[in-house]
Amino acid sequence: MEIKFVSGLADVIAAQTEISSVDGKRGVLRYRGYGIEDLADNSSFEEVCYLLLYGKLPTKAQLNGFKNKLKKEQKLSKPVQDFIKGSPKTSNPMDVLRTAVSIIGVYAKKETLVDSSVRLIAKVPIIITAFGRVIQNKKILQPKPKLSIAGNFLYMLNGKVSKLEEEIFDVCLILHAEHGMNASTFSARVAASTRTDIYSAITAAIATLKGPRHGGANEKVLEMVKEIKTEKNVESYIMKRLKKKVRIMGFGHRVYRIKDPRAYILEERSKELARKTKSNFYDILKKVEKIMEREVGHKGIWPNVDFFSGSVYNSLKIPPKLFTPIFALGRVPGWCAHLLEEYQPANRIMRPKAIYIGPKQRKYIPISKR
Ligand code: ACO
Repeated sequence: MEIKFVSGLADVIAAQTEISSVDGKRGVLRYRGYGIEDLADNSSFEEVCYLLLYGKLPTKAQLNGFKNKLKKEQKLSKPVQDFIKGSPKTSNPMDVLRTAVSIIGVYAKKETLVDSSVRLIAKVPIIITAFGRVIQNKKILQPKPKLSIAGNFLYMLNGKVSKLEEEIFDVCLILHAEHGMNASTFSARVAASTRTDIYSAITAAIATLKGPRHGGANEKVLEMVKEIKTEKNVESYIMKRLKKKVRIMGFGHRVYRIKDPRAYILEERSKELARKTKSNFYDILKKVEKIMEREVGHKGIWPNVDFFSGSVYNSLKIPPKLFTPIFALGRVPGWCAHLLEEYQPANRIMRPKAIYIGPKQRKYIPISKR
């Protein structure tokens, strides 16, 4: 059998999963068989968390029970609070989140994997908003029991939240909840394949998501829109960069060769918020999309999930530094569902190979003779 090196493990099958399916040619994303369009229109982030963890949609009673479990976990222990308050304000919030999750692991009790997952889903938004308040020199707020995870996140960050903002942010979280074998999920599964604990595996996932090739493009899209300033500058801005072979952020995807289905949904929300806030960001983005379709559409380069999310977060008054942590917050249930799958006894430790391309045999020379 010929041994072949596959750069970036592209198209290598590393697991079997029942959690989500991604059809990159037709632009279809389903969680446990349910289309994300249906989930975004009719469901809530809490319901999607339940679906990902338990494999089925909850009844009303099951969802209420699940929400109550989450609410009980919406607090941070003193060691975690002290760490967040003591972190330098200039820290990357992903570093703070990664270490806070690791500290939670230090104090974790023996419990079921689902209970640990619930704990993480509840606590990650509290960690991010607490650090968000610290960097804004504001008092850390406590969650309100009546609000959803999305509503509480915006309330704890900004001190207020409207119904529309809560609904739109809830959709953002649903759309980020799961996406197959991406780099951070793969990291989490590799860690879990050694049978390490769930907190260690999620710490690995957060560390992986932090990288600019994975979690950081939405912030860059916002920077681009701010630089462009008005619609009339779009054509020259984009053409100048394309001529220099600079990549336009928010475009292209390893799996999708057409427009990312999540981008369609976020586009609607971005339009709605732009109208409300009288921002020109949506109009600028649409013009960028038109020019990119003309210039690189034939290469299969289309808007991805990050193209409209930055403008949505900006309208929700979320600081750009927190955009990648929000990706993590949305993705925790997906990571946990994958860990539950990976911990199944039949799964073996992940142990791929590397082809050795270094020097053949060498004669050892003692240090005194080198
Ligand atoms: N802008 C302009 N041209 C692009 C872009 C882009 N964003 N992305 C790819 N291209 C071009 C490449 O230059 C290449 O052109 P060529 O054939 O003339 O040399 C062609 O399209 C194919 O590019 P690949 O590198 O093969 O695309 P790949 O599928 O490996 O990369 C990636 C995907 C990394 C997402 C890439 O499109 C990119 O860098 N995009 C910008 C960053 C971004 O938005 N990332 C978020 C991805 S979604 C997520 O992670 C949640």
